[in-house]
Amino acid sequence: MIKINENYLKLQASYLFSTVAKKISAFSEKNPGREIIRLGIGDATRALPPACIAAFHRAVDEMADDATFRGYGPEQGYLFLREKIAENDFAARGAEVNADEIFISDGAKCDTGNFQEILSTDISIAIPDPVYPVYVDTNVMAGRTGAAVNGRFENLIYMECTDQNDYIPKIPEEPVDLVYLCFPNNPTGATITKEALGQWVDWATKNKALILYDAAYEAFIRDDAMVKSIYEIPGARKVAVEFRSFSKTAGFTGTRCAFTVVPKECMAYDAAGTAHSLHSLWNRRHSTKFNGVSYPVQRAAEAVYTPQGKKEAAQIIAGYMTNADRIRREMDDLGYAYVGGQHSPYVWIDAKTDSWNLFDRLLNEAGVVCTPGAGFGTCGTRHIRLSAFNSHQNVETAMNRIREAMKGS
Ligand code: MLT
Repeated sequence: MIKINENYLKLQASYLFSTVAKKISAFSEKNPGREIIRLGIGDATRALPPACIAAFHRAVDEMADDATFRGYGPEQGYLFLREKIAENDFAARGAEVNADEIFISDGAKCDTGNFQEILSTDISIAIPDPVYPVYVDTNVMAGRTGAAVNGRFENLIYMECTDQNDYIPKIPEEPVDLVYLCFPNNPTGATITKEALGQWVDWATKNKALILYDAAYEAFIRDDAMVKSIYEIPGARKVAVEFRSFSKTAGFTGTRCAFTVVPKECMAYDAAGTAHSLHSLWNRRHSTKFNGVSYPVQRAAEAVYTPQGKKEAAQIIAGYMTNADRIRREMDDLGYAYVGGQHSPYVWIDAKTDSWNLFDRLLNEAGVVCTPGAGFGTCGTRHIRLSAFNSHQNVETAMNRIREAMKGS
């Protein structure tokens, strides 16, 4: 008899953004013609930078000619892209990352979800609450947790992030082997200081622990003095893996291109305490299970690092951040406390009411989609997340409609 992986039965409902999408479809069916403004999932709405499009076209033309056609590429990604990343994203900021420590992939969601596969199933894990649900669900699927009780899985250590600690998780007192950190944070938009991140690196070094650092939103940091990569912190190469993406940086959500950095000094241990290189293990996994991102997409991503590509990507991000400013201004006027939106496309709003109820109300009364905070953890049950990914005009209209719907609530 064929049997299922019963860990899947422990998962709560469906994936957050699928549930939201289903609710939107149901609403649209009932209200045909009603215009909906989506400030829910963080999906790019602006076209790819023209420099990327031009590179994309050139690469497609190469694929059309036997003389320049390319078949399977290296699973780890083409060196032309990995070298540009190492130089521009890391060396330029004084962080040591070599091109062969960068693994190109089709998304930070997949990489943050898959990385746990190369780690033991009996490790202790700490995750922030609220949190990007992929970190939790993939560990549930792998059998590292017990059942969900009142919205929290047994055997996971939840680090509460609230206004009491400026939404920065506190280093756990109990033994922890693996911690997930994300800055600028999804969903809260909070950022971390170099000093606080340094404390995490020191903690991981002392405890032979590993930090999975999700930096998918680093491009939204407006102050260049703030920390963008964990490798700006001395010692991080030994204890941290970093995830990045072109999705939000350059609008690749539909095009798919991301990367994971696994420094060669980064170690994890077997039962006898012998150290093993995570780089080798990830390389083994990646080359077995992944066949690389398509050549034209990698050429398009490479163009992000040309002077023109950098300028165009920065303009797109600045446009989204103008939206974030508009959302923050509206929340100030309405008297709602919030975090984020300063160095992040997300604004995390303390709505002081049940988040799914408010989601339904905003959808029904304002025709605006937010993301209910409950989907990110119990600390989000009274919050909503608004995303800045949309046109200025739509954000303006959405704010006017939200003002009407939230007034007096
Ligand atoms: C989000 O809205 O949280 C993100 O778009 C989800 C993702 O990147 O997978």
